[in-house]
Amino acid sequence: MERLQKYIANSGYTSRRKAEELIKNGKVLVNQVPVTELGFKVSGKEEIIVEGHVLKKEEKLYYLLNKPRGVITSVKDDKNRKTVVDLIDTSKRIYPVGRLDYDTTGVLLLTNDGEFANILMHPKNKIDKVYIAKLNGIIKADAIKKVENGVEFDGKVSAKCRVKLRKKDASKNTSIVEVTIHEGRNHQIKKMFSKVGFEVLKLKRERVGIFTLDGLKSGEYRPLSFKEVARVYAMYNK
Ligand code: URA
Repeated sequence: MERLQKYIANSGYTSRRKAEELIKNGKVLVNQVPVTELGFKVSGKEEIIVEGHVLKKEEKLYYLLNKPRGVITSVKDDKNRKTVVDLIDTSKRIYPVGRLDYDTTGVLLLTNDGEFANILMHPKNKIDKVYIAKLNGIIKADAIKKVENGVEFDGKVSAKCRVKLRKKDASKNTSIVEVTIHEGRNHQIKKMFSKVGFEVLKLKRERVGIFTLDGLKSGEYRPLSFKEVARVYAMYNK
C-alpha cells in the first residue's frame, strides 16, 4: 500500500507536492469517489482519476537475482559502488526485498510491489530464509542449541531457528552450517554466531520461501512467473 500522493507522483503525472494540492482540492477520484485526505493509501489496483485523467496502473515487476559478492543491496550508493539494482536491466524503479551484506551471495528478490515485499519480510508469515554459513572453528552441539534457542544482540533475543551441521573440516578448522530463520535483522547470521564465539567466513542465502538459486549462476537473474507471485500472496498470514 502506498500513499495516494506518492502513487500519483510515481506515475509521472506530476510532483508529489502538486499531487497533494490536487488531492486537497478534490481533484482526485479513487474508484469514482473524491479523496481529499493526504494519508489515504492505495494498492495500485484501484481506478485513480486525476483532473479527469485516468492514471495508468503501475506495471508490477518481480525478479529473482543470484547476488554476487561485492555488490551492495540498495537502490543507490553514495560511494558509487555497484548496487543490486544496477544488475537488473530495467528502466523501472525497483528495490530489493530485504538486505544481503556486501560479501553475502545468493537469493535476492527485487520488485516494485510493496505488498509482495512486506509478505516476504514480515516474521509473522514465517517464510523460511535458508543460509549456508562457513564458520571459523568446529562448532559443537551446545553452541548450535544456543543459536537455535535464540541469542541476544542489539538489545533483542533472536527467535527460535533451525541450525544443521552440514560439514566439518578438522584440517582447515572450519564448519559449514545450514541455518533457517524467519526474521531479517541486520547482519543477523553473523551476529548470532558471533554470540557463541564463531566468525562467519562465507555466507550464502540458498532459499527464501519457494525461491531457490536453481538455474541461476552468480550475477544472473530471472523474472518471477505469475504463478510464483500468486504463491507468495497465498503465504500471507492474516
Ligand atoms: N545475515 C547476515 O549476517 N548477513 C546477511 O547478508 C544476511 C543475513
